[in-house]
Amino acid sequence: NYAYLDAGFGGIPDGKGIVERFDTFVGNAGDSEGVRFLEKALSYAKDRLGIDKQEFLNELVLAFLGCNYPVPPRMLVNIEKVVKQYIAEEMYGPMPTTTNFDLFATEGGTASMTYTFQTMFHNGLLKKGDKVALTTPIFTPYLEIPELSEYELEIVEIRLDEKTWQLPQSEIEKLADEQIKLLCVVNPANPASVKFSDDTLDRLTSFVEEKRKDLFIITDDVYGTFADNFVSLFAKLPYNTLCVYSF
Ligand SMILES: Cc1ncc(COP(=O)(O)O)c(C=O)c1O
Repeated sequence: NYAYLDAGFGGIPDGKGIVERFDTFVGNAGDSEGVRFLEKALSYAKDRLGIDKQEFLNELVLAFLGCNYPVPPRMLVNIEKVVKQYIAEEMYGPMPTTTNFDLFATEGGTASMTYTFQTMFHNGLLKKGDKVALTTPIFTPYLEIPELSEYELEIVEIRLDEKTWQLPQSEIEKLADEQIKLLCVVNPANPASVKFSDDTLDRLTSFVEEKRKDLFIITDDVYGTFADNFVSLFAKLPYNTLCVYSF
C-alpha cells in the first residue's frame, strides 16, 4: 500500500497494512538476530512506551528511505520518545526523572558542540568577549572552539585536581565571575575518564543554585554510559544545563 504516482512509480509509504506485512516477514525470517531485534524493539516501544506499532514502524521506514525531510526537524516524534527513555535511564541513574526535556539529534557529539556554540551566538546568549569556563584538562575541541575568530571568547580554566580528578571548591568559586556566561564540563572526564563524585556534583550544584542561577552549562557526558550509577549535571541542574550525548 503505497501512495504511488501513476503506474507505481515513486511515492511515499502510508503505513497501511505495514504491521501485518512486518509480522509475515518476521514469521518467515527464521532465526535472524537482526529481525529478532527489530521484533523486540517494536514490542518494547509498544508495551513499555505506549507507542502505536503502525505509527512507529512507518516512521522507521520513512526515516530509512530518507524520502522526506525530518518533521519536526529537531527529531522524529516517536524515535524521540525511545531515545528520551534511554537518555533518562543513562543520565539520571538512580535519581528519579522528575524533569521534562527535549532532544535534538545531530550527526554526533562534536557536531552538537559546534552547533551549540553557533546557536548561542545567533540567539544572543553569548557574544564576543564573554568568558567561558572549561573544566580542564578537557577534550580539545572545547579549547579550540571558543578562540575561533567568530567567537573570540575568553577561556577561564576550572582545573580538576590531578590526583582525584574532582573539582576543588576554590576552582568552583571562580564561577562567581559574572562575565563567565557558559561553563563546559566533560563528565566523566576526557582524558582522565573519572566521573564527578556525589560530593563534586553537590558542591557545584549548590554553588550554581545559590550564586549563578543565570549560568549556562554544557555537560558532555558521552562516557556516562560506562560509569556505574552515573548521574549527570543535567539531572542535578536541568534548568541551566544542555547535555551532549553520543552513541
Ligand atoms: C568528550 C567527548 N565529546 C564528544 C566526542 C565526540 O563524539 P562524536 O564521535 O559523536 O562526534 C568525544 C570523542 O572523543 C569526546 O571525547
